[in-house]
Amino acid sequence: MLKQEAEDGLRSFADPQFRADVLAGLTARPRAIPARWFYDRRGSALFERITALPEYYPTRTEIGVLTACAPAVARLTGAARAVVEFGSGSSAKTPILLAAVAPSAYVPIDISGDFLRDSARALAAAHPGLPVLPVEADFLRPIALPGEVAGAPKLGFFPGSTIGNMGPRQAVDLLRAMRASLGEGAQLLIGMDRVKDASTLIAAYDDAAGVTAAFNLNLLARINRELDGTIPLDAFRHEARWNDAAARVEMHLAATRDAAFTVDGRPFAIAAGETIHTENSHKYGPRDARLLLRAGGWTPLTEWTDPDGLFAVILAEAQGEETAP
Ligand code: AVI
Repeated sequence: MLKQEAEDGLRSFADPQFRADVLAGLTARPRAIPARWFYDRRGSALFERITALPEYYPTRTEIGVLTACAPAVARLTGAARAVVEFGSGSSAKTPILLAAVAPSAYVPIDISGDFLRDSARALAAAHPGLPVLPVEADFLRPIALPGEVAGAPKLGFFPGSTIGNMGPRQAVDLLRAMRASLGEGAQLLIGMDRVKDASTLIAAYDDAAGVTAAFNLNLLARINRELDGTIPLDAFRHEARWNDAAARVEMHLAATRDAAFTVDGRPFAIAAGETIHTENSHKYGPRDARLLLRAGGWTPLTEWTDPDGLFAVILAEAQGEETAP
């Protein structure tokens, strides 16, 4: 096989949506590439390291809040609900909830089949007797849940403040899709990161050890590897900004010098100081969070936070038909 053919063969393994998002994102002004593409094997490993960083308070704070509120959640939800997690049973959070609420079944939903099956196997082994029914699907759209849980009331679980990585419109669409998937009488337990002082937020997204910088820059390495790119990584640096008007931390890759490169055979240029916007992480004040949930078809019932009010875990119930005055 000729070298070019071999390279074309390798290139064709790239996810077509990744190629489309990168080419469109580098062409657009401002330049922006969706954050979902951070999570290749190395990106996922770097994210795991981020969750343990001293500056990255969300993960350990949410685990603390969940541990403290789990008995109250169990009282409010009642036994025998089917727990439906949006995303594969992640790290320490899922076992905390499952141990407290005595569910009738556990349904993790994830778009990544391999990761889903691995984490479902681990959870089934840790909870003998609990039916674990993984569903491989994109939870941004309404999903048909397994027939085994058709008659059970549902408790949706969406920890990690992942909703913050969506813009408000996409977040409302997602909440509505969850409402449609879970049905009448459902409840939702969701983690949301709170607005706080900018210095705490910036430190959480620009840590001293440079792990978040490596996580951000890995996106360029992934583009080079999977889309036959020639992006000079040393011409970019990680930047975290607090956008107060939009209440979000933004991550960017800022060009430190003029650079020209190709991706998938297409030429691109960036001038020193210009950036590629790679992630938004929206933060919600208490009223903002409640309004977002209501807009998405959920009535907030109770919320719990840590003593410093850094992170909130909110229990909400599916709204019935809207009865306007
Ligand atoms: C996955 N998500 C909730 C993380 C966040 O905090 O927005 C992703 C992340 N990006 C940089 N650090 C963590």
